[in-house]
Amino acid sequence: MKSFLTRIIWAVVPLTFLLPRCENSNNRDVSFNDDVLPVFQAECIRCHNSEAASFNNLNLSSYESLMNGNSLHQENLVVAGYPDQSILYLSVTAEPPEVIGYRMPKDGPPYLDEFETQLIYDWIFQGAKDN
Ligand code: HEC
Repeated sequence: MKSFLTRIIWAVVPLTFLLPRCENSNNRDVSFNDDVLPVFQAECIRCHNSEAASFNNLNLSSYESLMNGNSLHQENLVVAGYPDQSILYLSVTAEPPEVIGYRMPKDGPPYLDEFETQLIYDWIFQGAKDN
């Protein structure tokens, strides 16, 4: 039979793994070029690139093209400081039919994992900087 102490350890150990992850995701500075752009490159720019026929003209191949583009939702595509109001973030998370009609990437699943969506969340939350 397991001792009381063993039970406590089994209850606490998983928590200690979780804690630093939560802190990290909220505290560490997310870089557009090092963290966010690689996600776009892997999952998005096959459809959202610099070609004229790119979907909704949304070009995710650079900071400039994202921020100065002319997609349908350009005004609130990225609302610096407010990921929950940013179409870019909403497009890769929960059910967005009321927003753009699809969850991105459109040919998913698989969709972005929690780590990747958190990067986008943190980057917008931290001011959507060109860093
Ligand atoms: C297989 C092609 C494809 C991939 C991959 C894809 N998208 Fe899209 N995306 C589309 C299409 C098609 C639309 C237009 C949907 C509509 O409005 O009918 C769209 C629209 C969007 C919009 C709305 C654009 C606007 O005009 O405001 C956003 C934001 C978006 N995509 C983000 C992403 C992100 C972020 C990724 C990568 C995680 C991604 N997409 C991957 C095809 C794709």
